[in-house]
Amino acid sequence: MSTRILGIESSCDETAAAVVADGREILSNVVASQIDVHRKYGGVVPELASREHLRQIVPVVREALLRAGMKLSDLDAIGVTQGPGLVGALLVGITYGKTLAAALGKPLVPVNHLEGHVHAVFLEAHRAGLQPRLPAVCLIVSGGHTVLYEVTLAGSDSLHKDGLLRYRKLGQTRDDAAGEAYDKVAKLLGLGYPGGPILDRLASAAPAAPPPVKFGPTKMKNNSWDFSFSGLKTAVLYHLREHPEYAADIKRREEAIARGDRGFEQLLPLCDSQILGLIREFQNAVVRDLVERTMIATQELSAETVLVSGGVAANSQLRETFEHRAASAEVKVFFPSRALSTDNAAMIAAAAYSRFRAGVIADASLNADPSLALA
Ligand code: KG4
Ligand code: ZN
Repeated sequence: MSTRILGIESSCDETAAAVVADGREILSNVVASQIDVHRKYGGVVPELASREHLRQIVPVVREALLRAGMKLSDLDAIGVTQGPGLVGALLVGITYGKTLAAALGKPLVPVNHLEGHVHAVFLEAHRAGLQPRLPAVCLIVSGGHTVLYEVTLAGSDSLHKDGLLRYRKLGQTRDDAAGEAYDKVAKLLGLGYPGGPILDRLASAAPAAPPPVKFGPTKMKNNSWDFSFSGLKTAVLYHLREHPEYAADIKRREEAIARGDRGFEQLLPLCDSQILGLIREFQNAVVRDLVERTMIATQELSAETVLVSGGVAANSQLRETFEHRAASAEVKVFFPSRALSTDNAAMIAAAAYSRFRAGVIADASLNADPSLALA
């Protein structure tokens, strides 16, 4: 009989619930996104996020059970995101998870959101019948995080077989997360929120001409594995200030977004070749820094595997560049599918499975930890 865990995720702006069997088989995966609520503010508004989670949590959990064809009493455990994230948002999931666990007499397993992102990669690999070898270097890159870990198994086996994993932080962003830089640059260019998906598509539509501006690699003192993206955003801002001729098109795009015309086909005609070149140069700079530092760390640690997860892992150029670099360095790179790259609860249920087997169970004192570290 398999172990079936209900995962609950509410750390940021997605209310999500999923049922996963034995940490591998996704029986259901329901995500209620709040993007439409936050869009007009150009970013996540914490108070609105908590309110939306409260509205969504019961129907989302109900839907996850329905799609899995299960009743609450069929569950073996409940896994819930403890942190990091927005405290008010986390509390909704934790309070609901605690209440369910107490009412059903089922164990409650606390999960680190970042460990969830790592397990999203394993879920996908298992689906393809693959077993990523450890140690691995893992890049988690989203709107809230850009962090590099060494991932090893707490034990002697070099294959990931449901054991507990150990994490050593190698580097992180010193300012903005990469996804945050995408979102801020999209806002500057009048391209709405979130910025990643539209900038990704527009970058690939840029003509093969020299860009209107060049962004060099970010240099890091002391720790070569840290990242920095706020300088890049500022460079875009200065470039736009120096070129007031861009302003009219920015306004036209903002008006299109306000009308709801936010698709690629609608926005592409409102972008001239200079703007497309600028977007491509921005994306080149982000991708180059993410891939370079990750690959240097991989070589220095003699890791055999690279894991890439988080919302920005959906980026097409990031995926292609990693595939290319990993092939020439003879290491394997693994990504989640696009659906598992962004926040979801299947990854939380999968991460909860190995913790459940290791006996990591929370009691009624479990609290949200907005800056929970991964160790
Ligand atoms: O993991 P996620 O859903 O939520 C956070 O934990 O932040 O990631 C959302 C972030 C946003 O900043 C969004 O702009 C970015 O991921 N993103 C992308 C792409 N798709 C989403 N960034 C670059 N390229 C993409 N295709
Ligand atoms: Zn996340």
